[in-house]
Amino acid sequence: MIERSLIIIKPDGVQRSLVGEIIRRFENTGLKIIGMKMVWADRKFAEEHYKAHKAKPFFKDVVDFITEGPIVALAVQGVHAVDNVRKLVGSTSPHEAMPGTIRGDFAHLSMKYASEKGSGGKNIIHASGSQKEAEQEIKLWFKKNELHSYKTVHEMHVF
Ligand code: PPS
Repeated sequence: MIERSLIIIKPDGVQRSLVGEIIRRFENTGLKIIGMKMVWADRKFAEEHYKAHKAKPFFKDVVDFITEGPIVALAVQGVHAVDNVRKLVGSTSPHEAMPGTIRGDFAHLSMKYASEKGSGGKNIIHASGSQKEAEQEIKLWFKKNELHSYKTVHEMHVF
């Protein structure tokens, strides 16, 4: 039940100075940060990250978007981490994301609008969609020695 999940604060989140606000929301729940770094991904790396979407019409747009500036990558760990992170992040399309979620509070565009503009949907954040995806993504973004094992105070009360 203890899972890990990958979170990426995308270039729009970094450029809008939302990094601290976003990390606070995950830390508040007691999810444990086990890896964190700022990276400016190149196209080859971004294409690998989004390879499951290679055949989709927006593939080039999402690669363009995630490589337009530095991102912050986080690996977090906790009970049902994948679902808990997705709940905090909100629906993929910000116009459907509930208030109180990261996408619902800080964005409002739709993926339809993004498609019409030919841009990657500026939805601030990426989060793994399943445990399998999380393990693959964490392996892609973090080396073994960049992931850390330690105890948080939350483990006494929240885990
Ligand atoms: S998800 O989160 O994997 O279930 O979302 P999915 O709908 O499969 O989308 C995969 C990623 O592509 C982005 N996306 C789009 N970008 C631009 N235009 C359109 N129409 C569009 N539709 C989806 C979406 O934000 C997903 O990227 P991440 O990084 O997971 O947010």
